[in-house]
Amino acid sequence: MSNEKIFATPLKVDDVADCYFYHTMELPGYGVMEGRDWDLRGGVDEYLGKVAFARQRVLEIGPASGFLTFEMEKRGADVVSVEVTAEHGWDFVPYPAKKLEEVFGPRRIVMQQLKNSYWFSHAALRSKANLYYGDVYNLPTALGEFDIAVMGSVLLHCRDPLRIVEQCGKMARSVVIVDMFHPDLEGAPVCRLAPTPQNFLWHTWWHFSTKFFAQFLAVMGFATSDILRHQQRHRGKAYTLFTIVGRR
Ligand SMILES: C[S@@+](CC[C@H](N)C(=O)[O-])C[C@H]1O[C@@H](n2cnc3c(N)ncnc32)[C@H](O)[C@@H]1O
Repeated sequence: MSNEKIFATPLKVDDVADCYFYHTMELPGYGVMEGRDWDLRGGVDEYLGKVAFARQRVLEIGPASGFLTFEMEKRGADVVSVEVTAEHGWDFVPYPAKKLEEVFGPRRIVMQQLKNSYWFSHAALRSKANLYYGDVYNLPTALGEFDIAVMGSVLLHCRDPLRIVEQCGKMARSVVIVDMFHPDLEGAPVCRLAPTPQNFLWHTWWHFSTKFFAQFLAVMGFATSDILRHQQRHRGKAYTLFTIVGRR
């Protein structure tokens, strides 16, 4: 399969009202689009593990509005992002069908608006980044090989995070993993199931320790350097995240 066939044709989005900006973005001609979720503008380099992106081919899992896509591109990267298809929708935590059904309709709309925000920004920034809509657990070899794979705040939302790390580790020489920091899990290579019957956390599966990934990356033959901890802003509040960089 050629690249032209697997990458999405850019979607023309004329109206900013059709967009859900997950990230705060600064777009030429439009100004600052306030993100509904994260404002990473103050800490991009820490978020991305202070990795150098010039002339690097990057595989990005889950771009959302594309703030990191375009920041990596700005730093000289050639970015291919992987986003979930409309058919799959999300790795929904399997709560009873009756409860989940209430989520599906609104979620479908938000996901389309999220994708619109990526394409709106892509056009405003005249980006050359490519997007592949597909199954993150079965990435096609036609995507090619990469210098760096970036998994930013996505593994917590996925049923089988290690399969994603494994695939990225096979396709890239370096990997960058970013996730929420949970001090109570530190010291052991563990992950904890986040959903309970009470919290109805249908969109998030896991809390991870840093060692969980460091050890798995070591198993795969990656050397990991110091783990960065950084604060990022979510809906006006600061949260601590970690970034692990693995290199072969
Ligand atoms: C929480 S956002 C993180 C956005 C960005 N990577 C960052 O670090 O700010 C998660 C992204 O991963 C995507 N995503 C979630 N589950 C996915 C899956 N199973 N396959 C592919 N992408 C997925 C979401 O649609 C969204 O774009």
